[in-house]
Amino acid sequence: MKGVVLAGGLGTRLYPLTYTTNKHLLPIYDQPMIFYPIRTLVKAGIKSVMVVVSGPHSGQFIQILKNGKELGLEHLEYGYQENPMGGLADALKVAEDFADDESVTLILGDNTTDADVSKEIASFEKGSIMFLKKVSDPERFGVPIFDRKEKQKIVGIVEKPKKPPSQYVSTGLYVFDSRCFNIAKGLKPSKRGQLEIVDVQDYYIKEGTMKWYELKGYWHDVGTFDSLLEANKYWASKSLNH
Ligand code: G1P
Repeated sequence: MKGVVLAGGLGTRLYPLTYTTNKHLLPIYDQPMIFYPIRTLVKAGIKSVMVVVSGPHSGQFIQILKNGKELGLEHLEYGYQENPMGGLADALKVAEDFADDESVTLILGDNTTDADVSKEIASFEKGSIMFLKKVSDPERFGVPIFDRKEKQKIVGIVEKPKKPPSQYVSTGLYVFDSRCFNIAKGLKPSKRGQLEIVDVQDYYIKEGTMKWYELKGYWHDVGTFDSLLEANKYWASKSLNH
């Protein structure tokens, strides 16, 4: 099992903070944002990781992460996504050679969680896993569609729906078998011109090989000023209370 952290994009919703740096290097209390998803992978037993970067501040990642030893990684590689607006599934494609036919645990560089997913990852064999969380604003996320009769069964997923079919959302933590790269390569851009990660997930859902778990503990992604503030408050209080 290899780990992939997607940390590209332009972070336009956080201008002017992201004029001079990449969103994933902004501070969450006392650490750069990207430390959190890397620690989630390390806690799950994954020590070989690729960080996929893009955009004008890509060079700053190596100054902060170096060879990853300080975070407990045994091997850290960097990948570069040519088009920072290409979408998450486009960024995933960059990691194909690094994965070398192994499965991957993918985490978005702006997702912070204190969940321990080592058991779910250790028991993974093939297909895909999605980790869900109940939220009050599902329209901001990828939202699963549950079967009307078999209420635990997911039959589809939609990205940022105006009328969300569920309160559950897909967090930015995924496990995929090595077929995910070919699936991503076969995708067509969505209406917003991106290769969407929900379309990779939908492939496994339609195939019947998608498992899901509810992510236990705190989870937040950071895309707006409010979510940045919220994540800072949470991790500051957690750190100060220990
Ligand atoms: C991305 C995914 C979305 C997922 C979310 C989790 O959205 O496209 O399906 O629910 O991450 O953080 P973004 O935050 O890039 O808009």
